[in-house]
Amino acid sequence: MSAKPRPRATEPDEEESPNAPPAVALEDLPGVGGAIADKLREAGYTDLMELAVASPGDVAEAAEIGTATAQKIISEARRQADVGGFESGVTLLERRQKLGRVTTGAKSLDDLLGGGVETQAITEFSGEFGTGKTQLAHQIAVNIQLPVDQGGLASETVYIDTESTFRPERIVDMAKGVGLDPQEVLGKIHIARAFNSNHQMLLVGKAQELARERPIRLIVVDSLTAHFRSEYVGRGELAPRQQLLNRHLHELLRFGTTYNAAIVVTNQVSARPDILFGDPTRPIGGNIVAHAATYRIYLRKSKPPKRIARLIDSPNLPEGEAVFSLTGEGIRE
Ligand code: GTP
Ligand code: MG
Repeated sequence: MSAKPRPRATEPDEEESPNAPPAVALEDLPGVGGAIADKLREAGYTDLMELAVASPGDVAEAAEIGTATAQKIISEARRQADVGGFESGVTLLERRQKLGRVTTGAKSLDDLLGGGVETQAITEFSGEFGTGKTQLAHQIAVNIQLPVDQGGLASETVYIDTESTFRPERIVDMAKGVGLDPQEVLGKIHIARAFNSNHQMLLVGKAQELARERPIRLIVVDSLTAHFRSEYVGRGELAPRQQLLNRHLHELLRFGTTYNAAIVVTNQVSARPDILFGDPTRPIGGNIVAHAATYRIYLRKSKPPKRIARLIDSPNLPEGEAVFSLTGEGIRE
C-alpha cells in the first residue's frame, strides 16, 4: 500500500474482473418489450443489477414509461438480481471486505483516505488551478494497474476528460516511476473526451458497456463540474444544473457499486465572487457533491513541489491534513 512499489510485470491476478456478463436479458422482465429494453440500454441500464439499483424516476424518464410501471420493473429486477432486501451483518461485512483500495503514491495521502482511494465510493479532489488534481487523476489511473500487494487492483480505467488535459506522456513518466511498462499501462486506460455535460453523462453508460469486456475498476472524471458550470449560468439555471449533476453523480456511484470500482472526480473551487458561489474555497456544485462524494479532499499549494491535502466533511474518518509532492515521476510522499 505505500512508498515505492517494486517493479513487476502486470500479469492479471485472481483479484481481477468481478465483471460477470448479464445472466438475464432485460427483455425477460415482465412488462419490458423490445422497444423499452432498447431505450433502457441506450440510457445505460444494460443489466439487471443496474436496473435494480436505479430510481423509478430515472427509469421512467429513460424508457418513457410511467413511474408506477418503472417501479414494477425495478422491483422485478431486484427480485431476480437478489438485491434490495435486508442484508445480514455477515453479508454486509463480506461486501465491505471486497472494498478495494488504490494507493495515490503518497503514504500520507493514503492514510488521510483511510488506506488509499476506496472502491464503491466517490472521491473528490478539489482545489484551485495547479494544485495537482489532474496529476492525482493520472497517478491513480496508473497505480490501479499495480498488483494488489503493491497498492493496486490489477485493473483498468475509464478516463473521462472534459478539459483536454489528459497527457499520455505523463502516464509514461508515472508508469516508469512505479516500474510498469508504459505501453501496457496506456493500453489499460480508456480515454474519452467529453464535449459537453450531456456527452459527459452519456459516457458513464459507455463505461458500463466497456466494463462488460474489460476489468474496469476506476472511473475518473476530470473535471466533474467544468461543463456544467459553463453551460448552466445564471440564477435561473441553478436548479436544472444541480439536478443533472446529481443524476450524473448517482450514475457514477451506481457504476462504483455494481463493479466494485473507485470513482475519482476533480472539482475546481470558484475563484471569482459570482452570485452563486461566493466563497473562494468552496468546491463547485455545493451540497449536491457534498452528499454524493464519500471522500472530499481539498488541495492547496505549499512550498513547491509540495501540496497540502485536507479531508473535508467525512462521516467516518477524522479530519486531517497530509503533505505530498508533485514530482517528475508522479505523486510522492
Ligand atoms: P486545473 O485543472 O487547472 O484546475 O489544475 P490541476 O489541479 O488539475 O493541476 P495539475 O494537476 O495540472 O497540476 C499542475 C502542476 O503539476 C504543475 O504546476 C506542476 O507543479 C505539476 N506537474 C505537472 N506536470 C509535471 C511534470 O511533468 N513534471 C513535474 N515535476 N511536475 C509536473
Ligand atoms: Mg486539471
